[in-house]
Amino acid sequence: MFFALGLSASPAFADGASSVTNIFKPDGAPARAIFDYTMLVLAVCAVIFVIVVGLLVYTVTRFRHRREDDGQEPPQVYGSNQIELAWTVIPIIIVFVLTLVTARTIAEVQNAVPPPKALKVTVVGHQWWWEIRYPDLGVVTANELHVPVSDPAQPRPTFLKLESADVAHSFWIPQLAGKTDVIPNRDNSMWIEPVTPGTYLGNCAEYCGTQHARMLIRVIVHPQGEFENWVAAQKPDSATDTNLVAAQKPDSATDTQVKAGRDVFFSTSCVNCHTINGTEANGKFGPDLTHLMSRQTLGSGAALNTPEKLRAWVRNPQNLKPGCYMPDMQLTDEEMDQLVRYLLTLN
Ligand code: CUA
Repeated sequence: MFFALGLSASPAFADGASSVTNIFKPDGAPARAIFDYTMLVLAVCAVIFVIVVGLLVYTVTRFRHRREDDGQEPPQVYGSNQIELAWTVIPIIIVFVLTLVTARTIAEVQNAVPPPKALKVTVVGHQWWWEIRYPDLGVVTANELHVPVSDPAQPRPTFLKLESADVAHSFWIPQLAGKTDVIPNRDNSMWIEPVTPGTYLGNCAEYCGTQHARMLIRVIVHPQGEFENWVAAQKPDSATDTNLVAAQKPDSATDTQVKAGRDVFFSTSCVNCHTINGTEANGKFGPDLTHLMSRQTLGSGAALNTPEKLRAWVRNPQNLKPGCYMPDMQLTDEEMDQLVRYLLTLN
């Protein structure tokens, strides 16, 4: 049962790589605290299991039916103070100890105070994607949370403020922390402190509608120093001007395509739902597309972000993610080509 809950096998992860995330491989303080606690509970339960099953096996074998039995009732025991005291007091002690350890672990995880160097991120759950904002850095992205690695000597945890734009979701990266509900009109918080660079997978853990299963999260933990590079590349002004220049420079076939694609984007309702910094597109309903091409996946993990998948996704989002709120724009093949050319410049 514990194991079934702990493993979240997700064939839905687009690249299939490390698609099983595991609470038994914790990385960082909060996940480690939960892991240690889980192992203690499992050990206590294992000891109880062995004792109970041992007694059961012993009784069933020792007192089994034998051919030479005389059919008489065995001697009966009517009450024993010692035995009753033992099976009352021992469980009370066990429950008491587990209660204290639970309270200590919850306090350790929930009462953590962000150190001055902590990174602050706001995560907003939407049906069915994650908006990710770095208020102190002026960066906005979606579905892929980039954080710096934390050095135990100089901890640099990430504190998340969790909000919902619609229904209840739950933010869960099994290797980094426990689940935290994401509830409309309420700010919840949690923190992670990964100490190993790499990509950690998670998903929404509260049923939130049709595409709940494709509301995947990627946490990309950057090695020392690399996080700053990512931030610099994500700055609102770092790419947009180049996009515009590329889009408006009519001196090659590609640029004409890009410019035509830009016109497609701005003449359809794409522009009502998405933001592209430095342009008049400032929709808030869908993910910010300013640096779309810097992301690994599309549709909150529904597909890998390749030009082919991008085209298929925009062509008909309902194929890849039935029920999602991005409509089929009914574009011609030519318009599709142009639009994809433009989107590919959003790096
Ligand atoms: Cu969001 Cu389930």
